[in-house]
Amino acid sequence: MWQCSICTHENDTGNLSCELCGVLRDLSLYFNNTSEAEAGAKRRNKYSGVSVLARSLFTTSNTKSKAIIFSDGSQENTNATENKQATMDALHKTYMPSKKRHSNIVPFKFDTPSPDDMVTTGLKSSINLRKEVQIKDSVDATGKKLMDSGILQTEKDTSMDPSTSAGVDKLGGTSSSVLSSNQHVTPILDHELQHLSLESKPKSSKPKIKKPASISEYKPEPWMLQSDDQEIRRQINLAVVGHVDSGKSTLCGRLLHALGLISKKQMHKYEKEAKEKGKGSFAYAWAMDEGPDERERGITMTVAVKYFDTEKYHVVLLDSPGHKDFVPNMISGATQADAAVLVVDASIGSFEAGMGVNGIGQTKEHSQLIRSFGVENLIVAVNKMDMVEYSKDRFNFVKSQLGIFLRSCGFKDSSITWVPLSAMANENLMTTASDSRLLSWYNGNCLLKSIDSLPPPQRDVSRPLRLPICDVIASITLGQMAFCGKVEAGGIRTGSKVLVMPSGDLATVKTIERDSSSCNLARAGDNIAVGLQGMDPSHLVSGGVICHPDFPVHVASRLELKILVLEITTPILVGLQFELHIHHARVSASLVKILSLLDQKTGKASKKMPRLLTTRQAAVVEVKLDKEVCVEEFSALKALGRVFLRSRGNTVAVGIVTRILDEA
Ligand code: GTP
Ligand code: MG
Repeated sequence: MWQCSICTHENDTGNLSCELCGVLRDLSLYFNNTSEAEAGAKRRNKYSGVSVLARSLFTTSNTKSKAIIFSDGSQENTNATENKQATMDALHKTYMPSKKRHSNIVPFKFDTPSPDDMVTTGLKSSINLRKEVQIKDSVDATGKKLMDSGILQTEKDTSMDPSTSAGVDKLGGTSSSVLSSNQHVTPILDHELQHLSLESKPKSSKPKIKKPASISEYKPEPWMLQSDDQEIRRQINLAVVGHVDSGKSTLCGRLLHALGLISKKQMHKYEKEAKEKGKGSFAYAWAMDEGPDERERGITMTVAVKYFDTEKYHVVLLDSPGHKDFVPNMISGATQADAAVLVVDASIGSFEAGMGVNGIGQTKEHSQLIRSFGVENLIVAVNKMDMVEYSKDRFNFVKSQLGIFLRSCGFKDSSITWVPLSAMANENLMTTASDSRLLSWYNGNCLLKSIDSLPPPQRDVSRPLRLPICDVIASITLGQMAFCGKVEAGGIRTGSKVLVMPSGDLATVKTIERDSSSCNLARAGDNIAVGLQGMDPSHLVSGGVICHPDFPVHVASRLELKILVLEITTPILVGLQFELHIHHARVSASLVKILSLLDQKTGKASKKMPRLLTTRQAAVVEVKLDKEVCVEEFSALKALGRVFLRSRGNTVAVGIVTRILDEA
């Protein structure tokens, strides 16, 4: 046995890193050929290249006792000297779904979101509505309906996914992490999936297919097409992803502060409050982590949305949670992203933890997922360079190790920008490097310039309106019947009629808000909040889709998918029960048929009706959903045709919808 120097957890001799917090046992294992600079960094950071969170949670010092407030209102005093198990139990208790908690909440915002609530409540707000959002008893009915309809999961459903609810809180992950340390999964790529052939699908199993409604008659109206003079700045949705504690929120907060979007007074307040809570280093992160639980624990739980402008872009910043238990939330941000900033902690031991020692590592999982969701352009922010004395060798080490993995995920070298920086020291964020140690070897772009250099995202206004509902909200300005989401296709404007699916209700668009200010219209790519009128409020549900009245989205419960199996420990067999995630909807589903195994090189069917699927295999499968979902074939609209399959808290496969079967 050996004791972790940070969290004091007793580990088996065989473990190279702490199974609880991910810190390496012996760094020299990884750095046999360290340069002088790296050796210096290593010396200096022998004990500091670790999660501040882990330290704050597992500290054994005689600090003051603190109270953990549970969502059901109960309170428990924990002393910092109590062992880590108590803290773990407390966290576990807090994350566990409880009937009591569900009964008193609205569907769009949970004080203490459980992993089960994550998908439908993952975004804090697409339009900064947090302050306006009101928790009202009257909305409870909607919440209950959502749960009844299965769109919000109940305790019953969680049994299917035990590790998201119960197997939580080994900070930094557990060995059941989606992507293990040695994983080099070939990602599911748009072009690969499209070329994977279906031609050798067995005739006997050919499903009956209803023809999708033609959209060939659809003509976009002139107001939907943005002319050059209208275009002030293009909007780009930027997801900030990466392993827990890599510094994502600090980076976002720092950027906003440096851009003058956080006032001195406000910053002073964050600093003071953070210090009072013994989390002084999280002051910038508090600009993003607004929830009391997030601040108490020093981790992001839901996606925070903020805005800023560069020369070229109006940037929608989506700060994602890095903790393994909040991957579904991270996904809800990733589905809206045009590009991503992958934040990597350069400090010794932490980068390695993010890459997955003993199966831990959201650096890899997040990279894989955002690529699966169609993000092609990536900025890798190699953060905390101050912790490694701005060492060029360390930067190159991170770049080479992670570069191999990113290539295996399908990112092209030419689409990746590597930026060494320190969020804490405001180094290389807004302006070119100023620290002489960094200047001596780096003369590339700072982060802001790199964001400005991203290629403009493609927008689809040539197709009928598709606006997946991310969160159902209630606000003073938008009224009781409102929601937020990103327009994936077409356009929407006030006064027009829209179709609310899957219920089929017709509603009138009363108000539209973008960036917290009202506007008359929005086009594909815009994140908006919309107030509706003239429909049954209970039919407005997260996971639904707002459509053009004449061109409804497909609604189906049987789909044919092309999937790529990720790292799994048990083979996938016909009959497997899993959760299917598609845009903001998630439903229980089962695997009905494995139609064919695909050769990943040729895309042709290599075996018909295989009995099972194992790691890294690609296949065409048929799935049956417990509830109908709004869906498009991937070839028609990527955003509504991408899926991922989760089972027991892990993403077991990612894929695309190739056919819609038995449409409702
Ligand atoms: P999650 O959202 O929970 O995944 O964490 P995060 O990635 O948002 O990390 P966060 O911004 O909360 O920062 C975690 C810790 O890293 C905090 O204590 C920060 O002060 C510290 N940190 C962030 N950036 C830097 C940096 O550039 N240098 C140093 N030394 N510390 C940093
Ligand atoms: Mg964060």
